[in-house]
Amino acid sequence: MSELRPKRLLGKVVVVTGAARGQGAAEAEALTREGARVIATDVTGAPGCRHLDVTSEKDWAQLAAHLREAYGRVHGLVNNAGVTWRARIDDIRPEDMARVHAVNVTGPLLGIQHMTPLMRAGASIVNVGSSAALTAHYPVAYTTSKWALRGLSATAAMELGPRGIRVNTVHPGFIETEMTASAPSAFREANLSQTPLGRTGTVDDITPLITFLLSDDSAFVTGAEIPVDGGLTAHGGAKPISDALRRDA
Ligand code: NAI
Repeated sequence: MSELRPKRLLGKVVVVTGAARGQGAAEAEALTREGARVIATDVTGAPGCRHLDVTSEKDWAQLAAHLREAYGRVHGLVNNAGVTWRARIDDIRPEDMARVHAVNVTGPLLGIQHMTPLMRAGASIVNVGSSAALTAHYPVAYTTSKWALRGLSATAAMELGPRGIRVNTVHPGFIETEMTASAPSAFREANLSQTPLGRTGTVDDITPLITFLLSDDSAFVTGAEIPVDGGLTAHGGAKPISDALRRDA
């Protein structure tokens, strides 16, 4: 049956950063299934991925030259690459703050700067934020970088709108990838207790939304921020109150 459904990204050239593993790898696969010509990129030399360090202007310029030559245009960009650093306010060092911001904020900015000259009206950019961009979250470099990414996304949506280029942000909650596998078990348990849907997410919870935002189905959606977090951020800290009262009822 699904074979009969038209592919939603047929013929679109889409760049995905951080595509060697985790959400980026799943996005590259899902977008390819929808007919996109995906250029999977990563800082690691993973098979199937073109080398691209999102913090490197040179790498972005080389990618842009390659895409101009090979396709003449780009229809989509998923700024997915991201790093965390679990130091709190008391411990964070300026160099770690700068490194995390370079990947999580300057990386997407460089992507936008280098890819938009190849984009025409109808193109779509998706930035991958985090529930940490909507809340206070203890790894301060990560949190501030993802809040900054929201500002970049909003500004880019405003600035690129007149050219018909859309910019949206997806905010994952706890998703099962190597990033979360490296967190202490208390992190998982605390997240579960605060997530109304009562489970962690998988990469397959993220990819349908990314596909939709890159497709023409979302032609009037720009500047949007969409959590994919099982309800984690929606209750704004009130879930423990609801849970406590239910227990006592
Ligand atoms: P991951 O750690 O499994 O994968 C990240 C990928 O980005 C890796 O392949 C890595 O090599 C690549 N990368 C790192 N630095 C790079 C650079 N300078 N240039 C190019 N690629 C680079 O992480 P995951 O979970 O797949 O995360 C994807 C995105 O989702 C990130 O932006 C992350 O902050 C965000 N996110 C993840 C959550 C989760 O629970 N896993 C929750 C909220 C947001």
